Amino acid sequence: MKATAVAPANIAFIKYWGKKDASRQIPRNSSISMNLSACTTTTTVEFSKDFSTDTISEGFDAQRIIKHIDRLRSLVGINERVCVATSNNFPASSGIASSASGFAALTIAATAALHLNLSEKELSALARLGSGSACRSIPDGFVKWDGEFAHSLYPADYWDLCDIVAIVEKAKKKVSSSKGHEAVETSPFFKQRLDAIPKRIHKIELAFQKKNFQSLGEIIEEDCLDMHHVMQTQTPPLMYWNDATKRIMEAVRDWRKNGLSVYFTIDAGPNVHLICEGKDEARVIESLKNISGVEEIILNKPSKGAQIVSTHLF
Ligand code: PMV
Repeated sequence: MKATAVAPANIAFIKYWGKKDASRQIPRNSSISMNLSACTTTTTVEFSKDFSTDTISEGFDAQRIIKHIDRLRSLVGINERVCVATSNNFPASSGIASSASGFAALTIAATAALHLNLSEKELSALARLGSGSACRSIPDGFVKWDGEFAHSLYPADYWDLCDIVAIVEKAKKKVSSSKGHEAVETSPFFKQRLDAIPKRIHKIELAFQKKNFQSLGEIIEEDCLDMHHVMQTQTPPLMYWNDATKRIMEAVRDWRKNGLSVYFTIDAGPNVHLICEGKDEARVIESLKNISGVEEIILNKPSKGAQIVSTHLF
């Protein structure tokens, strides 16, 4: 009863912000994301009658992990204790949300260790209960999450896009996304956001169909700014950007004026994700190196979803 899985983090092009049903982690709106090749979590899970307690790798949120394991234990009707070892291949505290890759890897490894034979849909729905955005790290490539589960829109090799992450702060974020989701209704602009999303989803799906990068990029930036507008007008307001974040946002606009086709998006933290096509990745990385406050750069390509692997962590 032991298995290991690797799962990618993902970056949302249309963001998930706000829950329709908090206990079941049902989102207020659909979201669209890309799985990230260079930001993955590996997790080994073993259940055994020989273990007297649950053991979780140090440095991770043990309570939240056990809660997810309990869901799976009750699904099968067992009470064997568990040992969970987890490691991220992206630098610890790089400010990249690891809950998506973490709960996707945990779900895939634990269900395999329990010999549960589940469909991708069922696995995505289970991962969602651990962390909403984790459901998008189960299917391959470019992914859409509607309601209960996520599915793949296109495989990873459909479009040679890059997500170049500019790390400007390594500290853990001050307000978790879980807390942020709870207060979303206090923003006077949230309803406007929800009304605008179906059209944005339609436009981004067309941009994917036609591989129209300019249109894709414009929608990505629009949705990022819209989500942060809502965040900043919630009570209490959530200001995730720092000076380096804003410098990069300004620079991206200047680079575009000079013919470099690149767009930004930002999650619940100050680090900036720069989205461009593969042909422009070297120029974007070089340009980024000139901006003060950039501590580290991570180059991601689109990646497949969570997978079982044969090498265990213990
Ligand atoms: O899955 P959560 O609860 O950590 O929420 C993720 C929220 C954002 O990263 C800000 C947006 C998204 O869709 O990933």
